[in-house]
Amino acid sequence: MAKERSKIKIYNDWKLTDRMEDKIIINCALPYANSTPHIGNIAGCYIEGDIYNRFTKLFGKNSVFISGSDEYGTPTTIRAEKENKTPKEIVDYYHAEQKRVFSSIDIEFDYFGRTTSENHAKFVQEVYRDLKNKGYIGERLMISPFCPTCKKFLPDRYVTGTCPRCGNPTARGDQCEECGRNNDPQDLLEPKCSISGDTPEFLETRHMFLLLGKFQDFLKEWIESQNSWRPNVRSFSLSFIESGLKERAITRDIEWGVPVPEPGYEGKRFYVWFEALLGYISNAQEYSSQAGNPELWQDFYKNGKSYYFMGKDNIFFHSIMLPAILKGYGHEIKLPTRINGNEYLRFAGKKFSKSKGIGYNVNEILQIVDKDSLRYYISSILPESSDSDFTLQEMVGKVNGELADKYGNYANRVLAFCLKKDIIPEEDGIIDEEDARVIKMSESNFEEYLKLMENLEFRKALSLWLELVSYSNSYFNRSQPWKLIATDRSACSRKLHISLRLLDYCTLMLHPFVPSGTSRIWESYHEGAIMGTFDELIAGNEKFTIKSSEIPFKKLEVQEEPKNGLNLKVGKILEAGYHPGADSLLLLKVSLGERNIKLVAGLRKYYDPDALVGRKIIVVENLKWAKIRGEESQGMLLAAQDSMGAHIITTNEEEGSSVKIGEYEYDGEQKIEIDDLKAYDLRVDIKDGHSEITGLIGRNRLSLNVNNKGLLIDGGAQDKSTVR
Ligand code: MF3
Ligand code: ZN
Repeated sequence: MAKERSKIKIYNDWKLTDRMEDKIIINCALPYANSTPHIGNIAGCYIEGDIYNRFTKLFGKNSVFISGSDEYGTPTTIRAEKENKTPKEIVDYYHAEQKRVFSSIDIEFDYFGRTTSENHAKFVQEVYRDLKNKGYIGERLMISPFCPTCKKFLPDRYVTGTCPRCGNPTARGDQCEECGRNNDPQDLLEPKCSISGDTPEFLETRHMFLLLGKFQDFLKEWIESQNSWRPNVRSFSLSFIESGLKERAITRDIEWGVPVPEPGYEGKRFYVWFEALLGYISNAQEYSSQAGNPELWQDFYKNGKSYYFMGKDNIFFHSIMLPAILKGYGHEIKLPTRINGNEYLRFAGKKFSKSKGIGYNVNEILQIVDKDSLRYYISSILPESSDSDFTLQEMVGKVNGELADKYGNYANRVLAFCLKKDIIPEEDGIIDEEDARVIKMSESNFEEYLKLMENLEFRKALSLWLELVSYSNSYFNRSQPWKLIATDRSACSRKLHISLRLLDYCTLMLHPFVPSGTSRIWESYHEGAIMGTFDELIAGNEKFTIKSSEIPFKKLEVQEEPKNGLNLKVGKILEAGYHPGADSLLLLKVSLGERNIKLVAGLRKYYDPDALVGRKIIVVENLKWAKIRGEESQGMLLAAQDSMGAHIITTNEEEGSSVKIGEYEYDGEQKIEIDDLKAYDLRVDIKDGHSEITGLIGRNRLSLNVNNKGLLIDGGAQDKSTVR
């Protein structure tokens, strides 16, 4: 029997001095401020940035976690045009939305800035001037797509056509989403203007270019020496360089962007990628000013390590363009330490897509599942080295079977036992063979975990955690404290102490992935919060104070993949007149594209029949036909009812188009009753001034849309008004 304290050991890579000296800046690709992040984005990089940030901070490193909205560029202007708003209105709304969404799932940046800040523009212009002075910028005449109908130069992504590499017929002029090729609009076969559909002319216009070729040899050597990068990032970048680095235009003929400090460039702006990449540093500068030490960022960028998390379509910009810019700029700024590009998370086999409405956005999924469970499941299927698939069934299985049944239950069993028996877990200086083995195993498991986490192998780290949880459960079972308590109270107390030590490891290891639930478990048996306790643990000074055995993980209810049985179509009113037998009703003749139907609608008090002719409405096509005061109604139109009256729900899309609820669409003929319709609970939801019509599919409240465009409410309606 050996006498030893069962304290948490310090490992080679984690010596106190290292821990204190390491300065780590953690960045996530700046999300375009034009939509609500969906789970594909979260799995793509934000959760990894957050996991790494929490991990480094938990174990005493000096790290900052920074990102911000990417607010310029065509993604914003496209959205603004669609919604009839100014780009500024769009980015103000979505900047706030992104911040709120990230914090709703515990993604907690030290600073989340915006590329429309004054400081950002200043920094971009400074870097540009510096690069120009050093000879890395050239001016050229460029051939640009010009749409004769729109009478303007077209941003690259406004040109669509066939990808010359993979044949994708809907490739964009900037990039092919299928194969990831970075295109020039001229490369596309049969290019078309995506606004007018016309074939663009290619005309000359003057622009500034980053002379990437000057960095070719340097970048090749530098990337070759990056042995810690994931193979996908490294080989993609090297093959890109192999094919020869061309100079790239860094200005555009657009109005929404950072101004170019050059005479003759008043009508032009910097290309969004050139300036957005500089957002990492400009945001860090703003963070530093806010923290009261404007020079702080230099400490990180000149003396520390920098980690960049992104989706795979962003790799080129981070592994080639950004290092070239930083190398050219110099000023002692270090090049990226790690560039981490994830593959895609798919939703039941399809690529998540905001624009195509596939999958859930964060707001939608949080109606089905709590943030801890969501984070746990996403972490366990991170698309680190290949695409992975998100399904509700698998989520329920993992959350219930692993998070709740294994970990939650383990914590509950140990804590509840101590509370019930009123026993204080303590060491007594004795360690039997079994205990020595358990301690050794947990230490080596933990050591391996630290290495994996440092190397950004999060999925593997999480499976080690799961192993340790199973191991802890069986140790507790084998110790049989419920028997020991009667025969050897001191041994019982010691075994419980080791059980809590194991719970410490499990909770610490899981914390970066599932921060809220683990904090609560931690606090239920420690005096202080989980953050900042690591040094205590190392010193072996930790005290257990068990206050509760309540576990914050609820089991998810197994639910079927929700179904939609509501057939909604866009209709156009052809004729409208009074119902002969009722003074509140109108009779309508409505075109559904291929065929016409008759409807009876209770709109007479609110609408003049003549004013309705020609208007688009939404029709429930598969409602049981009914005779209403002698007139047949072959469906029903949707209207919102509030204290002001009834407002028809309308759209600008073609009659006959299907109306989807989220991504769910039903084109069948199965008839439904009015009560079935009520189950969808259609209503008006107003969020930050935007009105939407939403409905329930299963437990998810999703937005009704036609061709992914939201529906409109004639004259507007109050929040939560019923729609029927
Ligand atoms: N907004 C880009 C995207 O969502 C990422 C920009 S990363 C930056 O794909 F560094 F350039 F900002
Ligand atoms: Zn392609």
